Amino acid sequence: MTAKKAVTWTKKDLLGLEYLTKEEIELILDNARSFKEVLARPLRKVPTLRGKTIVNLFYEPSTRTRTSFELAAKRLSADVINMVKESSSIQKGETLIDTARNLEALKIDIIVVRHNCSGAAMMLSRAVNISVVNAGDGWHEHPTQGLLDIFTLREKLGSIKGLNVGIIGDIAHSRVARSNIWGLTKLGANVTVCAPKKLIPAGIEKLGVKVTNDVDEVIKKADAINVLRMQFERDESRAFPSKIEYFKTFGITEERLKKAKKGIIVMHPGPINRGVEMSAEVADGANSVILEQVTNGIAVRMAVLYLVSTAKRQKK
Ligand code: CP
Repeated sequence: MTAKKAVTWTKKDLLGLEYLTKEEIELILDNARSFKEVLARPLRKVPTLRGKTIVNLFYEPSTRTRTSFELAAKRLSADVINMVKESSSIQKGETLIDTARNLEALKIDIIVVRHNCSGAAMMLSRAVNISVVNAGDGWHEHPTQGLLDIFTLREKLGSIKGLNVGIIGDIAHSRVARSNIWGLTKLGANVTVCAPKKLIPAGIEKLGVKVTNDVDEVIKKADAINVLRMQFERDESRAFPSKIEYFKTFGITEERLKKAKKGIIVMHPGPINRGVEMSAEVADGANSVILEQVTNGIAVRMAVLYLVSTAKRQKK
């Protein structure tokens, strides 16, 4: 066995798994494992970020990510402020950069941002000296979702190296798919993406994944499948005539899982469209780890908030 290379976190931001090394991803996952132990104690709190203030700046709806970031910050003893589009000066036309600069002037330490524009988090990270954590930007990346998916897989199956992972569903519109692809391939998984033709972006193979339209083939070989939400609200291409037809062709059912490896892991980032991406029986079934993914999100986000807070900042 070779010793693990010691790695120090240096980045002030988390913008995507594309920009992390394998070692940095593993550092987050290892820290998350320690924080998960904290969350199992009767007193689920540590003073790690006492005196720091975190703003959750959400321009899009969220149940899991926003709540999970808030819980993560509180478990680390940070102060947290939640800002949503509807109740801030964003409504009066203030720009994203001006909003962030004002938050910096208010001595906020970390901005957690969700935005419908790809690249929004990166733009902010360049505009301010404080930390920026991407909580999902357009179709680009959702790094903490990718990390919590990989953390859950590692917990369930041990090493990621050599695992066959199928990502099934709306790949074209999915930031979750991109973060999973970057993270899983860096850690040595064999990734296959599966979707209707129109929902597979051109050139996706260049990211080191296999591509297919045959969901049964993917299920047969997979150690785990990550099933993505059909984003009908973003599907201008009308890739599928109806939800019923999508379910028939790509939906994960108990019948389909009969041909899978014993113990196949079924994941979904949420929110689920039951009866579209998967049946209710599969979502709630023995192979599903969907709610464990949600629980693991807190430890993973604690690790991310802790690590970005340790980075040295340059004067702008
Ligand atoms: N998985 C995920 O991002 O869910 P939310 O939109 O509820 O945050």
